[in-house]
Amino acid sequence: MQRKDLKRLTIKDVARTAGVSIATVSRILNGQGGVSEELIDKVQLTVQELNYQPNAVARALKVQESRSIGLIIPDIGNPFFPALVRGVEDAAQVHGYALILCNTDGDPDKEINYIKFLRSKQVDGILLVGNIGFEQSGHWLSDAAVPIVLVDRRIAGAPLSTVIVDNQAGAVLAVEHLIRQGRRQIAIVSGRPASPTNTERVNGYIQALAANRLFCRTDLVVNGDFTFEGGYRAAEILLNRGCRFDAIFAANDLMAIGVIECLAQNGRRVPDDVAVAGFDNIRLAAWYKPALTTINQPVYEMGQLAVAALLEHMADSGAQARDIMLKPELIIRQSSGGKEQS
Ligand code: RIB
Repeated sequence: MQRKDLKRLTIKDVARTAGVSIATVSRILNGQGGVSEELIDKVQLTVQELNYQPNAVARALKVQESRSIGLIIPDIGNPFFPALVRGVEDAAQVHGYALILCNTDGDPDKEINYIKFLRSKQVDGILLVGNIGFEQSGHWLSDAAVPIVLVDRRIAGAPLSTVIVDNQAGAVLAVEHLIRQGRRQIAIVSGRPASPTNTERVNGYIQALAANRLFCRTDLVVNGDFTFEGGYRAAEILLNRGCRFDAIFAANDLMAIGVIECLAQNGRRVPDDVAVAGFDNIRLAAWYKPALTTINQPVYEMGQLAVAALLEHMADSGAQARDIMLKPELIIRQSSGGKEQS
């Protein structure tokens, strides 16, 4: 059968076949009541026989509810995000919502375009892992037409609920652990400089050094971009600078792995010559050799809490914006020398 022969069935076809009015079919499909049991059975049977699928978009336009939510993330290729998506999807499903996933590469223009796109699809709410500034976003972040909840990234000045891990405290945990391992020349490979998450982690690095009376040396600070390749390049820069370092804190696990690969290819042993710690606790962190010391983010839970916050805003347009901050946890493995020195 050719595609053109597969004419899409409409509510009219169901009404004609069941011998009732379109309004009756509509009432039954929308569970509105006021229709006899006999008619309900007849219409349901017809729907089954014709294999009729109601047009979700038309329904959404009519009832102003699509039972779907949008999730905008930078990059599903970063193993941190599948766990977030899973947490969001599982929670959304429990409440009868489907998910539309969008990747932006952290590009603010793409973020706005996806917000516009999701609104045109009549989604009931949006979860945003954003890089855009509030000023830059025009009215798109503050317009209450579709509730938005921020996940994993703050947007300064945006009056929106945010679900996030305490990034600064996490970075302090990682760097203080490296210090307790006897390391004193600790470099940092940061994430994208424009990302607020990154700024919080860099602040944690500076805070931990200061609290332990260690200087923050500019030659030990290199910008990465949260990717494996970015971590590799950043370690190359550190090595080419010829400065001495005995530990590296990478602002996420992907970069930490890139760092370790680069060090190994240049004859530096991890952890003997250089101790390395990352951030995220992606699944690979435990399996990689050497297993990665890192900061665990309760990312699945973060996704679930974000959906709960979004549902709250969807149910009550006057709900107060809240900051939901989760606790980071230090996971000690081989890449930093394993057990802490006493
Ligand atoms: O988007 C990059 C990073 O931000 C992830 O690796 C994770 O650390 C998130 O918080």
